[in-house]
Amino acid sequence: MLSKKRPIATLSPEERLLSVTYGSRSFSREIPRFEIPGEGVPAEVAYRLITDELNLDGNPALNLATFVTTWMEPEAERLIDCTLNKNLVDQEEYPQTGVIQERVVNMLARLFHAPKGGEGIGTATVGSSEAIMLALLAHKTRWKKERLARGLPADRPNIVASSGVHVVWEKFARYFEVELRLLPMAGERFTLDPEAVERAVDERTICVGAILGSTYTGHLDPVEEIDRLLSRIREKKGWEIPIHVDGASGGFVLPFLEPDLRWDFRLPHVRSINVSGHKYGLVYPGIGWLLFREEKDLPEELVFRVNYLGGEEATYTLNFSRGSSMMLAQYYMLLRLGFEGYRRIHATSKANASFLADRLADDPRFKVIGPADHLPIVTFEIATGAGFSASDLSDKIRERGWILPAYPLPPDLAARSILRVVVKENFSRDMADILLGDIDLAARALSGKRIPGRRGSRKPGVC
Ligand SMILES: Cc1ncc(COP(=O)(O)O)c(C=O)c1O
Repeated sequence: MLSKKRPIATLSPEERLLSVTYGSRSFSREIPRFEIPGEGVPAEVAYRLITDELNLDGNPALNLATFVTTWMEPEAERLIDCTLNKNLVDQEEYPQTGVIQERVVNMLARLFHAPKGGEGIGTATVGSSEAIMLALLAHKTRWKKERLARGLPADRPNIVASSGVHVVWEKFARYFEVELRLLPMAGERFTLDPEAVERAVDERTICVGAILGSTYTGHLDPVEEIDRLLSRIREKKGWEIPIHVDGASGGFVLPFLEPDLRWDFRLPHVRSINVSGHKYGLVYPGIGWLLFREEKDLPEELVFRVNYLGGEEATYTLNFSRGSSMMLAQYYMLLRLGFEGYRRIHATSKANASFLADRLADDPRFKVIGPADHLPIVTFEIATGAGFSASDLSDKIRERGWILPAYPLPPDLAARSILRVVVKENFSRDMADILLGDIDLAARALSGKRIPGRRGSRKPGVC
């Protein structure tokens, strides 16, 4: 018999063998929430307590809201598992990890058509947010240096971008004291309007931000047009204004599906690009990339050289220590899939997104926003008179486990609420059929229409 008074951690191995995880006292007591417990619990108990609680979270496979990868193959997970204890910053101790990071930077530099002949200039980051902060900081520093060198005032820098930018652009503006000139979206225009860009830029513009594609709707800003505009401005006014491309989602899709689309370093004003490895780079959360066109785009004074670990290391990151697993998983994915593998996976996601968009467009209760043809992202509104709102549908469909977010468009179009499906690798045509059936059922329940037996009513693919 096990003593009731003795904590489980003090039991002998024989006694523990007899103990049943769910029979242990930890499961009938309040769990520590505010203070570190005086004594610990066996590993299996700690594991169970936490994983049971996490069952209340949504199911990542049904999370249509996230851009972030929710499935990787077992070999990738094994690699992640066996590299969890390596700090990416310890390049003196883990030199091959550093070499692999350089290889990925070089692969991406070539994918984005950086000028030939040199090493790729860039770094792994935690995600696109860190990459965007670092890129904008580099533009601010370069602009300030150039202004001071010419004896001009270097205060009140600004950035011009669309109101559809991700919140990290606003964070950068506030944290680093730069004015963010957000150009409104209007009507059915969900991207930057080059004419408005022309009116907004001036000699204090440190860069124009172009998004591929927008977090709200997946649309692509017209980078090539903006590039041409900035060339004209340089000729007329002498202002050298770079473009930073926020390719958080599109940067890992467009090179594979539309290699002739010119948005990257082929355009002379594009001086930096960020991309999230953990979105369409097909790696779990925790990896982004920042690429500069050339060495001169990254001011030397921003690169820190430290020697804490037995050798000099050059870093351009906001954080010091971080895991290396996701960076290594990115290299795994590039090796494993190659160009053709990425192309096929993204082409499948796009085909499933088009299928979903076409079915929704055929249904008078919905209005598909678009076309956002380039990325596997589907956004739609509820038609007037449907008898329910976007958030009603989002809540209702959650009953089946789907996570389908409803959110307002940016401030200038905030009266419109939309729903977004980010189609990812693990969202098959079969899943699209089931989702459409569930949307139909939810919409009918919300508008008070009679719902016949669930099975009979679920016509695959019809909404
Ligand atoms: C356009 C855009 N930029 C930046 C980000 C932030 O990326 P991350 O989550 O990789 O930091 C996102 C995230 O969805 C995004 O869509």
